[in-house]
Amino acid sequence: MHTLNELPRDKGAAYAELAQQLRALLAGEQDLIANAANMAALLYWSLPDLNWAGFYLVEPRSGELLLGPFQGKPACVRIAVGRGVCGTAAARRETVVVPDVHAFPGHIACDSASNSEIVVPVVRDGRLLGVLDLDSPLLARFDDVDARGLERLVQVFLESLG
Ligand code: SME
Repeated sequence: MHTLNELPRDKGAAYAELAQQLRALLAGEQDLIANAANMAALLYWSLPDLNWAGFYLVEPRSGELLLGPFQGKPACVRIAVGRGVCGTAAARRETVVVPDVHAFPGHIACDSASNSEIVVPVVRDGRLLGVLDLDSPLLARFDDVDARGLERLVQVFLESLG
């Protein structure tokens, strides 16, 4: 069983610590689903004020984002690239921070508790594998420190796949 360690109060330091924890957690396994599942669990149970953390993965056949490993309430299964916050981050291939999801045109409401959201694209060798999506019940829960920190964690995840 994996023990979750306390994170430093400083957000930047917390992400540095989480990157180390994630590297240790994923070490020795290259399976995308297994590692995405453990990463979702680590984030959900370590970061404060989240109500959802998980992945949407590109389904090669349809090109759509398909629900992947996550923690939180049951969620929308398919999202077209270009739609919602997840589809926007996938289309732009850049991190999207939404301080108030109710003000984001086309936001897809999966859990009515969500008020802010961050989505980080997962791109390997120029190919979009999917997105990492975090939701919070707080308004403006995510900022630039979260964006850079989560992008770093996505890099650790990608390195684990070999
Ligand atoms: N709100 C997202 C959909 C996924 S859920 O938040 C889990 C969106 O607009 O893409």
